[in-house]
Amino acid sequence: MLTRLRVQGFKSLIDAEVQFGPFTCIAGANGAGKSNLFDAILFLRDLADHSIIEAAHRVRDRAGSRKGDLRSLFTKTTDSKLPNIAIEAEFIVSGEVTDDFGRKAKPSTTYLTYKIELKYVVDDEFNERIQLIAEHLTYLPKSSAKKRIGFNCSKEFFNSALTGERRAPFITTDRDGTSGNSTISVSQDGNSGRPSQIPAQNSPRTVLGSANTDERPTILAARREMQSWKLLQLEPSKLRSPDEFSDDPHITFDGAHIPSTLERLKRYEEISNRVATLLPEVRAVSVDVDNTRRIKTLLLEQRNGVIHQARSLSDGTLRFLALATMAFDSESKGLICFEEPENGIHPSRINAILELLREMAVNPKIAVNSENPLRQVIINTHSPVVVRNLIPDELLVAVPIRKNRSSFTAYGAIVNSWRLNHPDYSSERTPKVTVTELLDYLRSTDISPEDDLEGGKLWQLAAEQGMFDFEQIPQGDTIGSH
Ligand SMILES: Nc1ncnc2c1ncn2[C@@H]1O[C@H](COP(=O)(O)OP(=O)(O)OP(=O)(O)O)[C@@H](O)[C@H]1O
Ligand SMILES: [Mg+2]
Repeated sequence: MLTRLRVQGFKSLIDAEVQFGPFTCIAGANGAGKSNLFDAILFLRDLADHSIIEAAHRVRDRAGSRKGDLRSLFTKTTDSKLPNIAIEAEFIVSGEVTDDFGRKAKPSTTYLTYKIELKYVVDDEFNERIQLIAEHLTYLPKSSAKKRIGFNCSKEFFNSALTGERRAPFITTDRDGTSGNSTISVSQDGNSGRPSQIPAQNSPRTVLGSANTDERPTILAARREMQSWKLLQLEPSKLRSPDEFSDDPHITFDGAHIPSTLERLKRYEEISNRVATLLPEVRAVSVDVDNTRRIKTLLLEQRNGVIHQARSLSDGTLRFLALATMAFDSESKGLICFEEPENGIHPSRINAILELLREMAVNPKIAVNSENPLRQVIINTHSPVVVRNLIPDELLVAVPIRKNRSSFTAYGAIVNSWRLNHPDYSSERTPKVTVTELLDYLRSTDISPEDDLEGGKLWQLAAEQGMFDFEQIPQGDTIGSH
């Protein structure tokens, strides 16, 4: 679970910091830098899985097919020199991981911080590459963990998610002041044995991205955590296609394998009921297993008794079904980034989809276990309808910040939300967004009266929790008026 991210020198993020809860929404206008934050998260994921150059090519091009233009990843400023990219992440890893050979391993502690620094270099023959400058992985002390995590969580959640103790770092970098070269040291998890030394500048991969055995369980656990970060891009053709018997029974990032996942879970009644609360015309979801053709097909029965195959279902129905299935799957763990979940959803159903996404995320009021896996959901939106249905603690707003005649992105937290209490909080990196600014944001678009936006959840809960100073609302304005 990613709890905090600081990004410097990456795309429009000159120096931005974000704290994440179980469910977070980044709101903002077109071009505000919402997707750039997802790019930073997925870049870290790809660095844990591929060479540095391949990870760079994969930014906004998942296949990594487009070559060249490495400079576009580094923040453009009025200065001709490109800044280094530095990304720092705080996260909670799983208490047990599996290595590449199927062996189980336990990290020595589960609350960690990882930092990487990268530099753009080009030689006299115009060969460009990205050089690894520094890499760090270390523990975060339990004593300050509650304050650092920030969002409200119970003792049961805290004690089940944060296990183990450690007093020494796992990966460190020493820089030689004269040569400018750096050496990465990788220590043994058990503190015994000599650390390995790796010269950073020629390494095509990160050290973390090379951990694949149970010998260094904490580095492996950090890598597995990052590998679990994904961007959900549900594709109608994948949502509709039947499964073969050999398919992996887990829904993938594009929405494939709903039938075999449902078959593995065997929770038809619960999932049917959940889908029915979103789509009242649905009675039951089932899977037809064809032993002759060796395929599994999704079936959906309507209230009137008519049964449809997946290929006749609407895109919206299939999207709801994919999310509901994931919500009931304890093996679907990790961080899910989801762009604009309101797309293709009727405004009256937006609250329902937000409820479902919230439900998919881990419940921090109870212990983490197979019924409550460490799953996290981050969405982005420019829809005022979505914003109105969130509570301030779930919301961040992508806002422009100006420095040296250029504009960059920061993610503002709402006044009085928990995000402003982090020990390293900086108003420069995380600006405060007031209720007046939020109201302006909600008013800045054309919302038709049929959208029934009066009294959204954001305002109701904000009022109940005393989070907003309603004095700030300009006289004569009702909430959501325009
Ligand atoms: N290397 C860079 N340096 C500075 N700014 C950059 C860089 N790369 C991209 N940007 C800026 O990032 C912005 C695009 O951000 P992003 O794609 O995250 O927007 P968005 O909020 O997701 O918008 P939409 O709602 O349209 O999807 C552009 O305005 C662009 O100027
Ligand atoms: Mg975008």
